[in-house]
Amino acid sequence: MTTISEQPDPVVAEDHALKRTLGPVHLTMLGIGAIIGAGIFVYTGQVAGAYAGPAVLISFVIAALGCLFAGLCYAEFASMIPVSGSAYTYAYATMGRFMAWFIGWNLVLEYLVSSSAVAVGWSGYFTELMQILHINFPTSLTGAPLCVVGDPPPCPTPWAATGTGFAWFIHQFGLTGAIMNLPAVLLILALTFVLVVGVKESANTNALMVGVKLIVVLLVIFFGASFIHWSNFTPFLPHNTGQFGHYGWSGVAMGSAIIFFAYIGFDSVSVAAQECRNPQRDLPIGIMASLFICTALYIAISIVLLGVANYKTMIDIPNPVSFAISKIASIHWLVPVIDVGASVGLASTIFVGLYGQSRIFYSMSRDGFLPKMFAAVHPRYHTPHRGTIITGVFAAALAAVFPLNLLGQLVSIGTLLAFVVVCLGTMILRVQAPRAKRPFRTPLVWVTAPLGILFCAGMALSLPIDTWFRLVIWTALGVAIFLAYGIRHAAPSKWKVKNES
Ligand code: ALA
Repeated sequence: MTTISEQPDPVVAEDHALKRTLGPVHLTMLGIGAIIGAGIFVYTGQVAGAYAGPAVLISFVIAALGCLFAGLCYAEFASMIPVSGSAYTYAYATMGRFMAWFIGWNLVLEYLVSSSAVAVGWSGYFTELMQILHINFPTSLTGAPLCVVGDPPPCPTPWAATGTGFAWFIHQFGLTGAIMNLPAVLLILALTFVLVVGVKESANTNALMVGVKLIVVLLVIFFGASFIHWSNFTPFLPHNTGQFGHYGWSGVAMGSAIIFFAYIGFDSVSVAAQECRNPQRDLPIGIMASLFICTALYIAISIVLLGVANYKTMIDIPNPVSFAISKIASIHWLVPVIDVGASVGLASTIFVGLYGQSRIFYSMSRDGFLPKMFAAVHPRYHTPHRGTIITGVFAAALAAVFPLNLLGQLVSIGTLLAFVVVCLGTMILRVQAPRAKRPFRTPLVWVTAPLGILFCAGMALSLPIDTWFRLVIWTALGVAIFLAYGIRHAAPSKWKVKNES
């Protein structure tokens, strides 16, 4: 029989290894904590308003199907290779060093940059909540100083969007007049501190925050449902304006790529592989359960939001859920509850993102792609404290200066490509090691994995060209780091497919 085995860990001493404390409920909560966030609380209204209209419901289904197919492949990998590192580890096991680095580098978009994006979304709800409490932050300290020409909201001081190549890239931006997004920065730094102190405490904190988030989503569905105006769903698929992505089917496609952000995070369950008690059984449960629960909630809450407030009114609204509910006088009391719940909920999403990133850095450092300090585990707290702090500082810096749209689309494109590689890797491993022990087998893998590639690649191709251009710059930076460090220090894959008698 073939199996996959790992050579002894070269960096982490046994007594400093990560503790195995998480069970299936913790893992599902971890997944929900990562999934429900700015995608549903912020993007739904903007995607409906600017791209898809009420047909954003179709966008949700397309994105969910892509995640379902990729998720089934993730679950097989996660049950076979139950260590920290997620898609990075899977690529390392099947496609060699360069692809491993490429995917690990893209996962920085998925985890670190998405934490920054969600923190920016969080700042919108938090600022609104403070205003209800008559605490007004200066606007110069609650917004991004940089804006993107052509994206909502409009850039007051654009740097003339002309030129070609790198000049064009620079000139896409402008200044808003703000100094930085201070609430987003402070939140990321506070969560980083909690993560350094310990995973057990962190998981409990997370469970509490996820509970609050779920209650708010359910309250909105329950109380909002009887105020739906079905006329708001006509036209369901508004006519395309003549521009790709502006309503019509191309709007649905672009909408699905952007709303895909709302599903990102279910794979973070697999990142916790080294810290769960029974990874073979619990990881597939955690991934699939969190994905199914969130899909059902997304469809339900979107029907309520779009039924209560017309999609055209939501293009530029930073807090569409409380905005929609504020239209109904009889349940106005729900607005501050939503603001509190969204603030807590988005914080839990950021928390899981930072957690996942620090564990991916840990794995990459252990394998020699990054300096050893990323794999150092604190002797008392048993957490990779240095990697966690570096992650937090970078995430805070991005949240301080960049707007949500730019960060979110970069996150989507990087994650979609990582998912494509996971689907590819599942098929490669079926060929390389057909009889390896697979505690979870992707059903109909030769249909499921190609469909995962089709959906995820299709969504990535629907994103705007300037998002692809930013991805090229990001990739070039990653390749430069690999050539400067990883190529000299990274060992060939520690994962071996070997035959057992
Ligand atoms: N899925 C996460 C969110 O929607 C990243 O915020």
